[in-house]
This record gives sequence, C-alpha cells and structure tokens, in this order.
Amino acid sequence: MKTIRIAIDPQAIDQAGIAHAAGILRAGGLVAMPTETVYGLAGNALDERAVAAIFQAKGRPTTDPLIVHVADLADLSTICATPMPAHFATLTSHFWPGPLTLLVPKHPQLSDLITAGHTTVAVRMPAHPVATALIRASGVPLVAPSANLFSRPSPTSAHHVLHDLAGRIDAVIDAGPTQVGVESTILDITTPQARILRQGGVTRAQIEAVIGPVTIHSQHAAHDTAVMAPGLLLKHYSPRTPLRLYRGPIADVQQAIVAFCQSHPQMRIAWLGYTHDAHVAATLGVQFVSLGDISDDESVAHHLFEGLRAVDLLQADVIVTSEPLGDGVAAAVRDRLFRAAEGRVIEAPATN
Ligand code: TXA
Ligand code: MG
Repeated sequence: MKTIRIAIDPQAIDQAGIAHAAGILRAGGLVAMPTETVYGLAGNALDERAVAAIFQAKGRPTTDPLIVHVADLADLSTICATPMPAHFATLTSHFWPGPLTLLVPKHPQLSDLITAGHTTVAVRMPAHPVATALIRASGVPLVAPSANLFSRPSPTSAHHVLHDLAGRIDAVIDAGPTQVGVESTILDITTPQARILRQGGVTRAQIEAVIGPVTIHSQHAAHDTAVMAPGLLLKHYSPRTPLRLYRGPIADVQQAIVAFCQSHPQMRIAWLGYTHDAHVAATLGVQFVSLGDISDDESVAHHLFEGLRAVDLLQADVIVTSEPLGDGVAAAVRDRLFRAAEGRVIEAPATN
C-alpha cells in the first residue's frame, strides 16, 4: 500500500484535502491526523474492520483499548451509555476541546474491539482545527491511537508517522508539528473518586481545581496485560538504544552524567539534555540533543518525542538523560521518560 501525504495548513484549511481524507475513512481506510497532543491513527469507530486494521497497522495487541475522538458532544450518543458520570459535564465544559480523555460507561452497541472488552470507553474532543474538520467531514466518531508502531515514541510530526507507518496506512495529513507534544491526560470518572490513569496535557492541579481531589493510579503497574490502562506498560516510548535516566537537583544530575561519560571513554554516548547542558556535552565531545530550557515545562513536553527519536537515530551505545523538575506538564514528561527507561531511574548523588 502506498501511503499518501495530504498537506493541510491548520490556519487555512483546504476543504478538498479534508474531503479526500474523509472519503478514505468512510471507505474503511486509515488516515493519520494531527491533534494538539500527538498525531493519531484515525479509523471509523463504527466500522469494525477499520478498527481491526488499526491494531494491525500499529502491531498493537488487541488487549490495549482505543480512544474515540469526537468533534461535538452529540457524537457521543452512539459511543457512551447514559447517564453520564458525575463530573462529566463540569470537566467537558472546562477542558473540551483539549487534551483530556475521559473514561465513561460504553454504549452496549459499541464494538468490544475498541474497548478491549472493558465496560468503559475512553472519549476525547481534540483541540485541533484539522482533527475537528476531519471528524465532521467523516460524519462518524474516529478511533485514534497515537500513530506510531507499538511501544515506540508517539509521533509529533507527519515525518514521524511516515517513519513508523509508511506502507501500512492509506494517508497522513501533514499539518506541521503538534503543539502539546505529550498525549492527553486519561481520567477515569467511573469510580467514586476520579483517578488519573495517564498523566498528560492537562495537569492534576488543573483537574483538582475543577472537581476536587483525584488520585494518580500507580505508574508501576507494568508488564501485566490486565492493568487498567494496558497501554501503560513499562516498556513504552522505547528508543532502541538503552537509556539511562537520572533524577535529582540540576547540578547533581549534570555532575553524575559527566562522571559517567568520563568513566566510559570507550562508549559512544548520546546525551538528551537541556540548554544548560549543551556546553558541557561539547567540552566532553559527547553527541547532544536538547529538550530546551529545563524550567519551561511546555517547551520540554513539546520537544520530548522529537528529541527521543533524534537521539535514538544517533545509534550510540547508550543514551543519558534526566528529568525536568517542574510541577506542570513536566509530570507527564517524567512519566514518559520513566517508561522510556523501562522503569529504571538513577538517583544522582549529592555533589556537596
Ligand atoms: O493524546 C492522545 O490521547 C492521543 C491522540 C491521538 O488523541 N491518543 C493516544 O492514544 O495517546 P493511545 O491509544 O496511544 O493511548 C490511549 C491509552 C492507552 O494506554 C489505552 O490503554 C488507554 O488509553 N485506554 C483506552 N481505552 C481505555 C479503557 N476503556 N480503559 C482503560 N484505558 C483505556
Ligand atoms: Mg500510544
């Protein structure tokens, strides 16, 4: 299959391009589309064959359920069972369209393939004009997992999508890089106390400001296909190169990475660091990719998956990186780095 690229400027949407992509979707095909978080691999949620094809294209196990994307609240009538959980209306009025996915009871008629047999379905209204236009033109809700091969970093550009899925899907809409850079936050509102199953573009503090205390479901659940959000397996977002993740105060982390580089002169090391690390890496003669200013959470999130892919392409023996410390979307970045490191974290020793 040849994957076609449909370029669409989000500022001046070409309706012919959207109509073309919508036609592919209505015929049961797969189209990668931009959202504000990452690119998604879209298919008609009401077409079981299209849903099955998504799992095939990604190499994703069918135990890992999909998010249904809508453009209007009315689109949920064939997706969710009524009544909606408490908090649904409040949360959607605050955060939709936007990077918040809600777990709600599924409609009895909705395909079990989408929900992997769960009684809940994950729903979201993306805040991207191209995604909105595509859903409306298709006239159906769209299932869309991140448009990467299973367990690889999520794609934040059409280039990333093609790298993973060229020849496996019908089309990709290229609308430039995505804005947020990490996936949506997944919030389960079917339990007495709402709980975050995946940290993402909307922070815990933002949610708590609207509905009060929420818990964060253990990030360590791992290696078990029966966990609540099966996509939260530890081995996720993995570069092919082994990755050493450092944690601690900025100066201690930098010192620990320098010590590692100096004590492994025979190793090809690639450093996925921050602006303040660049000159140190240059002095050491170590290959370097920057995630930007460590104190700018939004910018680090925006650059994360691009950085992970770029540093992996250097084909080093090992990648060294460290966590951002902020309490905004940096929490989601720490979660993704933790999974990229398959759950191994190195605490940097205090330097003084
Ligand atoms: O930002 C995003 O959410 C992106 C864009 C494309 O919308 N989508 C995305 O989808 O990240 P995906 O499939 O890569 O991740 C969805 C996660 C998976 O970890 C899956 O296990 C979880 O959502 N999920 C979906 N339905 C679920 C359900 N009924 N119960 C528990 N977890 C669910
Ligand atoms: Mg994914």
